[in-house]
Amino acid sequence: MYKYPRLPAPDGLPPVSHPPRSPLVSSSMDYSSTKESPPAGAWWSRETVAVVTGANRGIGHALAARLAEHGLTVVLTARDGARGEAAAAPLRARGLAVAFRRLDVSDAASVAEFAAWLRDAVGGLDILVNNAAVSFNEIDTNSVEHAETVLRTNFHGAKMLTEALLPLFRQSPATSRILNISSQLGLLNKVSDSSLKALLLDEETLTEAAIDAMVSRFLAQVKDGTWGAQGWPKVWTDYSVSKLALNAYSRLLARRLQARGARVSVNCFCPGFTRTDMTRGWGKRTAEEVADVGARLALLPPGELPTGAFFKWCTPQLYSKL
Ligand SMILES: NC(=O)c1ccc[n+]([C@@H]2O[C@H](COP(=O)([O-])OP(=O)(O)OC[C@H]3O[C@@H](n4cnc5c(N)ncnc54)[C@H](OP(=O)(O)O)[C@@H]3O)[C@@H](O)[C@H]2O)c1
Repeated sequence: MYKYPRLPAPDGLPPVSHPPRSPLVSSSMDYSSTKESPPAGAWWSRETVAVVTGANRGIGHALAARLAEHGLTVVLTARDGARGEAAAAPLRARGLAVAFRRLDVSDAASVAEFAAWLRDAVGGLDILVNNAAVSFNEIDTNSVEHAETVLRTNFHGAKMLTEALLPLFRQSPATSRILNISSQLGLLNKVSDSSLKALLLDEETLTEAAIDAMVSRFLAQVKDGTWGAQGWPKVWTDYSVSKLALNAYSRLLARRLQARGARVSVNCFCPGFTRTDMTRGWGKRTAEEVADVGARLALLPPGELPTGAFFKWCTPQLYSKL
C-alpha cells in the first residue's frame, strides 16, 4: 500500500542524482539567457520540459507561470494563436523560459501537429498538465446542451493528447509525470447508479473500452432525453461525467504504465472551487493559489511521487470515493 507523502515545501527538496538529459534542440527554445533557475537541490533543471494545455487564462495560465518561476522550460499551449501568444509574451518578458504553441485538444489534427513539433523541435517532454476544459453552465444551472463539446474536450481531448505524447516522455528515473486537472464533481460518490459504480470500482475488469462506452451511453441518453433519471452526477452533469471518465482513465493508465514498466506517473488534482471564467469569477481561492499547490504536486520529488492518485487540493483520496 502506498504511503502518501505530505506535500514538501517548494524549497528544501532533496537532491536526486540524475542522468544527463538530451538538450532541447530548437534554437527557438534556447533559454540560456533567461533569469529563473531551479532552486538548489531540485530534481529538475532548465532542460525539464513541462507542457500545459489551455494555458492562456485561468488555472492553466497561473500554473504555466508558476512552473516557469520554478525554473522549468514551459510550453504554454492554447487553442487560439493570438490569445496564447499574448499570454506567453509577458512571461517571457519577465525572463521566464516559456514557449507558446497552438494546441486545440479536441482536434485530432492539432494534437498530431503539436506532437510532431514537440518531438522534432523540442525532443520530448517530462511533465504534461492536462488542464484545458470547458463548461457551459452557470453555477446553478444544469443544461446538457453542449454535452458533446464538453466530453470531446475534457475527456476525449485529454486522452487523445496523452496517448499522442506518451512515446515522447523522456523516461528519466521517476521524473516523467502527467497531472490531470480534474474535479471532485467526477468522484464516484457523485454517482447513484450502483452498477456503474461497481464497474468503475473494479480495477481488475475495468477497461478503456468500458469507459468510452460509458461516455457514449451518456451522450446517447442526452440525445434521447433520458439522461436525467440514470444515476449520473446531479451537478453540472455533462462536466461531471467528463471528469468521472477522466478520473477512471487516469487510474487505468497509471496501472497500464506501471505494468509495462514505463516510468510515467499519472495523477489527478482537483483544485476546488476557484475564481476563474469557468465559475464566472465565483470561488474560494484564486488561480494563483491553485497554481502553487498544482506546481508542488507536479514537482513532487521522485521518491515521493505516487501514481494513480487523486488529490483533492493537497489530500489524496481513497479510491472507493473516486
Ligand atoms: N475553476 C474551478 O472552480 C475548477 C474546479 C475544479 C476543476 N477545475 C478544472 O481546472 C481546469 C482549468 O479551469 P479554469 O477554471 O481555469 O477554466 P477557464 O478559466 O475557463 O479556462 C479554461 C482554459 O481551457 C482552454 N480550452 C478550452 N477548450 C479548449 C480546447 N479545445 N483546446 C485547448 N484549450 C481549450 C480555454 O481556452 P480559451 O480561452 O480559448 O477558451 C482556457 O484557456 C479545468 O480542467 C477545470 O475543469 C476548475
